[in-house]
Amino acid sequence: MNILLLGSGGREHAFAWKIAQSPKLTQLFIAPGNAGTKQHGTNLPIAVTDFQAIGQAAVDKQIDLVVVGPEVPLVEGIYDFFRNSKELMHIPVIGPSKEGAQLEGSKEFAKNFMQRNSIPTANYLSVNKYNLKEGLEFLDSLQAPYVLKADGLAAGKGVLIIHSLSEAKHELQKMLDGMFGKASDTVIIEEFMQGIECSVFVMTDGKSYKILPVAKDYKRIGEGDTGPNTGGMGAVSPVPFADKAFMHKVEERIIRPTINGLKKEQIDYKGFIFFGLIKVASDPFVIEYNARMGDPETEVVMLRIQSDFVELLEGIATQTLAEKELRFDERTAITIMLVSRGYPGDYEKGKTISGLDKTSGSLVFHAGTKENNGQMLTDGGRVIAVSSYGKNREEALQQSFFNTQVIDFEGKYFRRDIGFDL
Ligand code: AMP
Ligand code: GLY
Repeated sequence: MNILLLGSGGREHAFAWKIAQSPKLTQLFIAPGNAGTKQHGTNLPIAVTDFQAIGQAAVDKQIDLVVVGPEVPLVEGIYDFFRNSKELMHIPVIGPSKEGAQLEGSKEFAKNFMQRNSIPTANYLSVNKYNLKEGLEFLDSLQAPYVLKADGLAAGKGVLIIHSLSEAKHELQKMLDGMFGKASDTVIIEEFMQGIECSVFVMTDGKSYKILPVAKDYKRIGEGDTGPNTGGMGAVSPVPFADKAFMHKVEERIIRPTINGLKKEQIDYKGFIFFGLIKVASDPFVIEYNARMGDPETEVVMLRIQSDFVELLEGIATQTLAEKELRFDERTAITIMLVSRGYPGDYEKGKTISGLDKTSGSLVFHAGTKENNGQMLTDGGRVIAVSSYGKNREEALQQSFFNTQVIDFEGKYFRRDIGFDL
């Protein structure tokens, strides 16, 4: 079959690597892809939000399946665009409907969904300029720190965690006044939860589901989880604290009620659900839903799936997921992200990357790269994800370290402590 994959980051390179191993694949296209995805298929210069051009490419290239990497096209309704077009309706899209993608696109929608379906999450109040007074009173009723979240997509920047009450009130006002544009017209005020986080991924065909390997990502720029948030500096799988007892609770209290809730509310959802969880004492709570796989978690999750990934995707598309088998690789996988100096603030692009042909024993996924006259250049804050297997965390980490030294570019930075807290 011919597959069209949408996106251009490390997640998409890891997807492309895994998809390309399937005997079921005829041709893989990636839109727009990056210099790494090109090793596994054909890049098409089409933006992930250009639905017309994506639809045209799907027809021209006789695509049998579309796999959506990032959230923006999902929230903008790529699934519905295909369903509602005569030429495209026969082509399955792996990803939720526009309504289903609201689990990520609107935190208010997600919180209300969880409340309706009795899914454990932090207490909250949804605030807009009309009930600001109620919002301020809700803040008075909470203990520090205070959690404020922009309702809409804000490129991972829409969450503020604030220690002083007066500052929280001030920031709430600023958010409602447009700090994140329309995304913060509505703000969710949440109770702060203390615990350790992990990422649980599920594939669903709308009828059944399969739980993928659990991962933990490291969002802060600095070692020891310090400094500003980034798109993710590394990830590890498995996660020892997500043991049998914990995962049993996750499945009973969170995954099953979510899938059943989607069914009951007739929300069309055939794709990935990302549960951002926090373990408080021994109990799981949902911090957020995402309507897609995580980045950089995918750069370890794909290493830990032994089964034919295209078979699983096909299972989603044809609602036969229950018949498919999902085998895990028992080894540990760790990915370390090489980033540009200055990231997550301002950084320079266009630095020459050397050593890519000299790596060994790791999978080198491109996150932000560009090829120019045969030279590989940096083209983003997050540049390369170095993923490795090991029989334990230490071994996987050492293996990735080795290649983080082999690959070089001016201003290269990475964290050496991925998995330190496990
Ligand atoms: P989000 O964008 O919703 O994933 O939030 C970003 C980060 O803020 C999360 O990964 C958590 O570390 C933190 N966070 C969000 N909500 C809460 C909460 N209610 N309690 C504690 N930490 C939170
Ligand atoms: N790693 C977190 C995310 O993809 O949003």
